Amino acid sequence: MRRPIIIGNWKMNKGINETRELLTEIKKMDWDRRVEVVVCPPYTSLVEASDILISTEIALGSQNMHWKDKGAYTGEISPLMLKEIGCKYVIIGHSERRQYFGETDETVNLKVKSALNNELIPIVCVGEDVEQRKRGGTDFVVSEQVRNGLKGLTPEQIKNIIIAYEPIWAIGTGISSKGEDANAVAKLIRDVLKDTFNDEVSEQIRIQYGGSVNLGNIKEYMDQAEIDGALVGGASLKAEDFVKLINYDK
Ligand code: 13P
Repeated sequence: MRRPIIIGNWKMNKGINETRELLTEIKKMDWDRRVEVVVCPPYTSLVEASDILISTEIALGSQNMHWKDKGAYTGEISPLMLKEIGCKYVIIGHSERRQYFGETDETVNLKVKSALNNELIPIVCVGEDVEQRKRGGTDFVVSEQVRNGLKGLTPEQIKNIIIAYEPIWAIGTGISSKGEDANAVAKLIRDVLKDTFNDEVSEQIRIQYGGSVNLGNIKEYMDQAEIDGALVGGASLKAEDFVKLINYDK
């Protein structure tokens, strides 16, 4: 059985004060403990978030990192720094990073390896854009992203990673994927994992859907056989909404 996992990706929102407010509110609320919960605030709010989340069951994740441990990389943050703060997870290769900051499957691969070497769990993002979808290229694009992003890793290394399928056309647009379409892509990802690694890895890895997840559609995704969670942007920024998403089954 794969444990459901809901992750809030706050993107470039919530400074220290707002982070304190939001997490203090979430902590007071009652949520379904069967679900694993992770929040990913921006870098400058991570220390504050870590202090607030200590001895709670909410885990901390970063939205990005560099693959090197240290050095002359102005403006970058290393996996060691994230570990020191208390991060357990790190989002790698979000489409916004690929689109606006030149990240490629190669840098994703370097980051995934570095995260695993530093005992951080990568949340590896994949997904097609609208043009690729229109010309029927979704399966090819997603398969390549999974294969290239995980190149050179062993089944043992990757068995605990998370893969987030986030079609770019669904992110922040209010146009979400149909549950069954997202499930078909999640199934395809499992097939790629099976081919590249083995059955066990394919069965064990948790796959999330992301892209305009909200209170009205969360259950549609969580009910799909191949989908184990959601990576949520906008709807994770309000305590009440985020907790309602976690309680999708109540
Ligand atoms: P939205 O939920 O705001 O569409 O964002 C999805 C996303 O990109 C999460 O990583």
